[in-house]
Amino acid sequence: MSSSSLFRLPILNSALDAIGSTPLIRLDRIAAQEGLKCNLLGKLESVSPAGSVKDRVAKRMVEVAEEEGVLVPGKSVVIEPTSGNTGIGLAMACAIKGYSVIVVMSQKASVEKETAMRVLGAEVVRVPIGLSSGSRLTHTTVAKHLQQTIPHSVILDQYSNPNNPLCHELGTAQEMIDAVEEDARTPTRPTSGKVDVFFASTGTGGTLTGVARGLKKAHNPSAKVIGIDVKGSLLAVPPQLNEPYRGTSYLIEGIGYDVIPAVLTREPGMIDSWVKTGDAEAFAALKLLLRLEGLLVSGSSGSALAGALMWLKSEEGRAIAGDEGKNVVVLLPGGTRNYIAKEWFRDLGKNSEPSMVARQAVDSLRQYLAEPDVAEPDKFLLVNSEAI
Ligand SMILES: Cc1ncc(COP(=O)(O)O)c(C=O)c1O
Repeated sequence: MSSSSLFRLPILNSALDAIGSTPLIRLDRIAAQEGLKCNLLGKLESVSPAGSVKDRVAKRMVEVAEEEGVLVPGKSVVIEPTSGNTGIGLAMACAIKGYSVIVVMSQKASVEKETAMRVLGAEVVRVPIGLSSGSRLTHTTVAKHLQQTIPHSVILDQYSNPNNPLCHELGTAQEMIDAVEEDARTPTRPTSGKVDVFFASTGTGGTLTGVARGLKKAHNPSAKVIGIDVKGSLLAVPPQLNEPYRGTSYLIEGIGYDVIPAVLTREPGMIDSWVKTGDAEAFAALKLLLRLEGLLVSGSSGSALAGALMWLKSEEGRAIAGDEGKNVVVLLPGGTRNYIAKEWFRDLGKNSEPSMVARQAVDSLRQYLAEPDVAEPDKFLLVNSEAI
């Protein structure tokens, strides 16, 4: 089939129209390595124009606020407390629509995120790391203070705004449903024709909640929806799951919270279970996504996959893992752009031992440098950042 008949892409009116319709990708190499027979699928949100799943939320919150007259073009100032990606999505949306933006985020958030926001024209306020939820300097409290003092300013508030989960119910979930329903059953690729299990790492819980509603209401009431909560966060249910990790700090950004956001559903039957993951498991799973699937995705994508693998190997998950037709979707919420200079991310590029090819390259280049017509005593070559 020629590529032109696979994709018919219309001309879009702005980058906002390129949000959504992200690919669902078979993670066959990870499944084979982990001994899984089910169809393991990754929903790749890093291809979104501003780089993450939160573009969907930013777009919907801005457009609905415009329809409701809450945002007035040429006048309103959008203020948002965020761990970063919603801020980047809002900075993009507001650049296109002509609103000023102030993003309030923790000093934990990467400098890459701040740079992305500022080049898009947003202002960035940083609050200290490790504050108690009662502090007057949390990102939400500082955002509220700014909103009370800056004329025509509005907080769209992803933590309570129903359009956060709604964009996932109507968009993210529906796209997954369409993809599995259209996927043809073949003898080598059996499929149940449904989304059977869904995993997402949680920050506001908007993705988890919205996708749970989208899958369970109209598509597959018996779909399992599993929340992945980072060790040190208090979102998992029952709360005893969180206790052993209280006060644990973690490097991964965008996930975890110490108060339950209003958008995260506690409705019975919506979220079937929770898995706790830490940095170490997330980094190991991220390495699988990078090295086996070639996916340049975020630490939180590693958390989601780590939790999925843990659940699929649990007593409850084993039956699904061993069933060839079951469709298991892991949401990969963001890309590596925001973390590319972080030490933990650079460490993923290091091997405990140099690979065979690295050794071959070093040997070959040492010999090359020893040739009399090549040698330049004050110049050297680097292989994997090491001088040779
Ligand atoms: C990189 C990343 N992963 C995961 C999440 C969590 O998504 P949600 O807020 O829908 O729970 C976020 C939220 O900001 C994020 O930025």
